[in-house]
Amino acid sequence: MLKDKILVLGIETSCDETSVSVVKLENGSIEILSNVILSQDIHKIFGGVYPEQAFRKHQENMIIILKEALKSIDIREIDLIGVTAYPGLVGALALGVATAKTIGAILNKPVIPVNHLWGHLLVNFTNLPLEYNLQNIVGLVISGGHTNTYIIKNLIPLKIEKISSTLDDAVGESFDKIARILNLGFPGGPIIDKLASNYKSKTSRNIKPLFPVPNPENYNFSYSGLKTAVSRYIKNNPNFNLEEVCYHFQYSAIKHIINKIEKIIQDFEANFLLVGGGVAANSFLREELENLQNKYKIEILIPKPILCTDNAAMIAIAAIFLYLTYKNILQTFDIYPTEEEGNQIWYSTK
Ligand code: KG4
Ligand code: ZN
Repeated sequence: MLKDKILVLGIETSCDETSVSVVKLENGSIEILSNVILSQDIHKIFGGVYPEQAFRKHQENMIIILKEALKSIDIREIDLIGVTAYPGLVGALALGVATAKTIGAILNKPVIPVNHLWGHLLVNFTNLPLEYNLQNIVGLVISGGHTNTYIIKNLIPLKIEKISSTLDDAVGESFDKIARILNLGFPGGPIIDKLASNYKSKTSRNIKPLFPVPNPENYNFSYSGLKTAVSRYIKNNPNFNLEEVCYHFQYSAIKHIINKIEKIIQDFEANFLLVGGGVAANSFLREELENLQNKYKIEILIPKPILCTDNAAMIAIAAIFLYLTYKNILQTFDIYPTEEEGNQIWYSTK
């Protein structure tokens, strides 16, 4: 049982959210004290994340967000700093890491380089005791940049292995691309989700799928074929019903995830599933996961929507797990665009 109180400052700048958070670990339980998130609007103009603009907006807003997150907390009480070091846009990551290292140097506190994707999984431990006895845990991260599954072999010490990923587009990326084709705006996920729900609420008959559900080999994902099928349908049916197309695209995109995760639950005999990432906010996905939970009598942990999207609380929480796992805290570290490169930080640490 962890008795001491630890205050952790989290910093997230890997993509288009500038976020700073303070999280408290006390009596083995994690509580979020602040979690300020600024979603950069500038990318709406481009219909996707523009890396240079992302970096410039992070540098413009970081101090404002930092001050807001620390409004009612004395920065000298911070014991530990967690920052996203990978994966992400290099310039954007560098801004967050430089901020974290500077604060760490001034306060003389350790700075932990965090895998953003592990953050999406571990944020599920908000308000849960850390000794929460989980075994046979699998993880699903579905976001604008990733569609990954994991096996969480152990929580403390933390041991996570990747099972599968996407062969082409990430699921969130495919929502964003279809939204762009349909002129719906960016990010596409929440807009398509809403239009799909409208269609479903108006249609009482049994709906026959319009697009095939992708099924590449193994546990992997693929979204490029679905994108082509939707584009072709729109081209061949100029008077298409927008809500109907959104419904059917979403149906196939989400069913693909559900089918793969169902297979993983069976094959790995999972008792727990941790879900995270922006697409985890999707209403149809949440319904389908509830069905899986009932069918397999497993426990599915999924964050409330504000903690699905990129945020710094998840980074602070993952930093706690890493801090408790690796007794030797690193003196310095680099930033990495990919998860595989970044994980070498930990795999080479004794
Ligand atoms: O995790 P996140 O905030 O950033 C990345 O790390 O990528 O995820 C953003 C992605 C975007 O592609 C967005 O369209 C998608 O999550 N998204 C959704 C929904 N809300 C956000 N996709 C489907 N349904 C939603 N309700
Ligand atoms: Zn993310």
